[in-house]
Amino acid sequence: MREWIVAGNWKMHNTINESIALAKAIKQGLPVVKNGEIIIAPTFTALFSVGEAISGSKILLAAQNMYYEDKGAFTGEISPGMLKDVGCTYVIIGHSERRKYFHEQDNDVNLKVKKALMAGLKPIMCVGETDEERVKGVTQSVVGRQVKEGLNGVEKIDNIVIAYEPIWAIGTGKVATPEQAQEVHFFIRNILKNLYGGSTVDDIRILYGGSVTKDNIGDLIAMKDINGALVGGASLKADAFLGIIRQISGKK
Ligand code: PGA
Repeated sequence: MREWIVAGNWKMHNTINESIALAKAIKQGLPVVKNGEIIIAPTFTALFSVGEAISGSKILLAAQNMYYEDKGAFTGEISPGMLKDVGCTYVIIGHSERRKYFHEQDNDVNLKVKKALMAGLKPIMCVGETDEERVKGVTQSVVGRQVKEGLNGVEKIDNIVIAYEPIWAIGTGKVATPEQAQEVHFFIRNILKNLYGGSTVDDIRILYGGSVTKDNIGDLIAMKDINGALVGGASLKADAFLGIIRQISGKK
């Protein structure tokens, strides 16, 4: 069965103590979750403490990035094994901010996805077009390339989550319409079907991300191929994040 996901990407916010407080507030307010997964992705420095704070709950831990080597002279990097060691189940890979500010290319994303899977982590692979690309009408070719190159050489897709995050919608308050998002989600699912065969792909979760709030998620999640949300800004306040979880668990 395909389970929905609500994932909170805390980005470069919160000290350790602030992260613990937020994690505890989410844990306390969590409704009974039957067929879904709740994921939070604090900064690296808060992963251990947040892992302790959420233990015994249904909330799963994710990292926001990783490097594609096991160990060695890579100053400043974190390996997938280290993320497993600290308790991560998921890792966000190829977020548009990584692509934009840290020059990650599809090839880096691909290496990271493969390495995460080898280490037993579940990648949340992010794709999405810029405003300019949407206006030019090349959304599908851009997203299609990101999906295909990101998954190049990946034999089994079961443990992968895809997040469609139009860059023009991230942190802008300009959310995609449910129809715009569904169109791209459907397109992505079809690519996956061509690559991996129909029945496997039915269970793959494709999340929408970009200015998600409790007020707009209801209409998005009603769409057939939208299976959850990757949330930035609204994941930094327990009430706002819990509101999104309640909306989704009530509808899926
Ligand atoms: P936003 O960020 O919800 O603040 O738009 C989403 C994301 O970057 O994952």
